[in-house]
Order: sequence, then C-alpha cells, then structure tokens
Amino acid sequence: MEYVKLGPSGVKVSRLCIGTWHLPRSKDKDLFGINKVDVEEFKKILKVAVDNGINFIDTANRYHGAMTPVDLNHVGNAEKILGKLLKDYDREMFVVVTKVRGKMAPWPNGEGLSRKHIMWQIKESLKRLDMEYVDVYLTHYPDPDTPKLETLRALNDIVERGWVHYIGSSNEPAEQIVESMEIAKKYNLHTYVTIQDPYSLVNRRIEERKIPVARKYGLLIMAYSPLAKGLLTPKYLSGIPELSRATYSESLKRRLTKENLEIISELNNVAKELDITLPQLAIAWILYKEKEFGVTIVPIIGVSKLQHLEDNLEALNVKLDTDTVRRVEEIASRFKW
Ligand SMILES: NC(=O)c1ccc[n+]([C@@H]2O[C@H](COP(=O)([O-])OP(=O)(O)OC[C@H]3O[C@@H](n4cnc5c(N)ncnc54)[C@H](OP(=O)(O)O)[C@@H]3O)[C@@H](O)[C@H]2O)c1
Repeated sequence: MEYVKLGPSGVKVSRLCIGTWHLPRSKDKDLFGINKVDVEEFKKILKVAVDNGINFIDTANRYHGAMTPVDLNHVGNAEKILGKLLKDYDREMFVVVTKVRGKMAPWPNGEGLSRKHIMWQIKESLKRLDMEYVDVYLTHYPDPDTPKLETLRALNDIVERGWVHYIGSSNEPAEQIVESMEIAKKYNLHTYVTIQDPYSLVNRRIEERKIPVARKYGLLIMAYSPLAKGLLTPKYLSGIPELSRATYSESLKRRLTKENLEIISELNNVAKELDITLPQLAIAWILYKEKEFGVTIVPIIGVSKLQHLEDNLEALNVKLDTDTVRRVEEIASRFKW
C-alpha cells in the first residue's frame, strides 16, 4: 500500500479510504422494516482492508449503513458498528474521519454547525465510536444560519481539547473554502487539512473550482462516490440486483436510464479490452487525474461485499495511458448525472 500525506499535516493515509455510508446489508429487517447491516461481512471487509494496508476510514454521525435518507431512529448506527469492529485492532493504526452538521435530533439545535451543536455531537460521536479522539472532523455540508467564525472557533476548541486532531469540510463551495481558510488564518485558528467531495468519471464538477483551491492550500481531496454510488460497475446492466443500493436509493434508481446504461455498457467494454473491471477503470482514472492536476486525491470506496474490496484494491496496480483516459472521458461525458 502506498501512503500519502493528509494535506499539509504529517499524518500518512492509505491510497484508498473505506467509506461507511452504506455497509453490507443483511436480509434481516429491524423493527422499522429497515434492512440490518451485515456486521460479520463488514468485519471480514475490515480485516482484508487492514491486511492490505488500508488505514483510512470515513464515517459520519448520521450514517446508518443500509438506509438513505436516514431517519432519526437510525442515525449513528454506522459509527457504533465501526467503533465495535475496530476494537479488534490497535486504535492507533487508523485515521478515522467523522462528520457533523446533519439532523441528529428533532429540536431546533438538533442540527447545524453552531458551537452548541458541534460541542454536543463531537461528544456523541466519541461515545458511539467508543474512542478518545477522532483523527479528522469534517463539517458535512454548510450551515447558512451559523457565522463561519463561530464554527471555526468551535472546531478549533475541540482540537485544543484533544477530541479531534485535524479538521476539514465536505460539500463546501470553493469560494467558501477560501473564506474559511482565510478567516482561520486571520484568527490564528486551526485550518482545514482536507476537503471531501464527489468525484468520478461521470461527476467531474470539482475540477473547475475546487481542485485549484485544494492545490492552493495543499489540501487532500477525499473523493466520495468514485463509482458513482455503484453505477460505474456492471451490476445494473442486467437489472437491479437483490440488496443492491438501487433497491432502496431513489436518487440512484433515477439515474438508471436507458441512455446512461448504454454509456456504462460502453465503459464496461473498454475495461474488458484492457482486461480489467469497470470499477478498477473508474478508480484508476481518479488516480491518473490527481497526477494531471498536481493534487492528492484519495478515493473513498464504498464496499458492501468482500469481493468488491478485492476487486477495487486491484485498481492500484492499473496504469492508464493518456489515449485511454481521453477515450473514457469522451464516453462518460454523455452520462446525465
Ligand atoms: N461527504 C459526503 O457528503 C459523502 C457523500 C457520499 C459518500 N460519502 C463517503 O464516501 C463513501 C463512498 O461513497 P459511495 O458508497 O457512494 O461510493 P462508490 O464507490 O461510488 O459506491 C459504492 C457502491 O458501489 C458498489 N460497488 C463498489 N465496488 C464494487 C465492485 N467492485 N463491483 C460491483 N459493485 C461495487 C456497491 O454497491 P452495492 O452496495 O449496491 O452493491 C457499493 O455500495 C461513503 O461510504 C461515505 O463514507 C461522503
């Protein structure tokens, strides 16, 4: 496994990060009729991830692992499962990322990026994860009701208390990232080391504004949904498989149009010509782009089966040439996201 630096910090993280938004699903349902997480399968995934040198894990206070959107009966489940499974290892092996912002309770301050909410939720995340600190704490998405300085001061304080080691943001517009970095510098507060955004062959919106901002500040880009939530795999070419994400994610199902599936099929044919799989092609494409843009990008892979992880790890051995990259970009540019 190759390791890269967590932005301007001295921390080293693996070339791939494991995500926990969606975890392996069991056919068993809970009291609310929601599929339970297959904890045993996730345990196996974590073992193979660790055996292959992955030390970087992404979660969020709201994640459940088998539900989207997550209701208030199910928030926090992924952090609890992750915390329990990581007890099999030395906590210090891992760089654990979690997030704050989304709704965790029905009352007015049950969500947001106010000092009150952040101070509450970091303690709750530490309890759920059963950890003394998290390595990286991200704002999940902006909160227009809270002044940036209030959020940045609260984040600074939880770093000073040792509950969090580093901070960053997710889904924050490029100009707001610049504003946050400059405010933090002006007030001598801790600044971001990473930003987290969607990035894949079929969703390249960060290239124009965010990648230049990440380069300017030396921020690591954590690229989420690198397989476009499972679209950049052959799995939907012959229908919707049982327990797949499209069985319960409306936003994913909406994108399974005839035109999009034709594009996926073309990309799958390119992968076959190269004797690799489509997920490997999609992940290797991201690793090619980071060289082209001169930034560090770590794909956060979501895996709901051990076999996905084994497949995706092989992407690290794939080197794409420029002609192939241009060819797949041309095909993918017709995808309607
Ligand atoms: N900051 C944010 O707002 C935000 C938003 C989204 C995600 N994230 C983070 O990013 C992580 C990754 O996002 P994502 O899960 O959308 O990533 P993704 O890698 O685009 O999609 C993962 C899904 O693709 C399918 N898959 C993965 N590897 C496969 C393979 N080799 N063959 C066949 N199918 C395969 C699986 O679908 P099935 O489960 O259907 O089999 C899996 O659940 C999340 O877990 C989360 O930690 C953050």
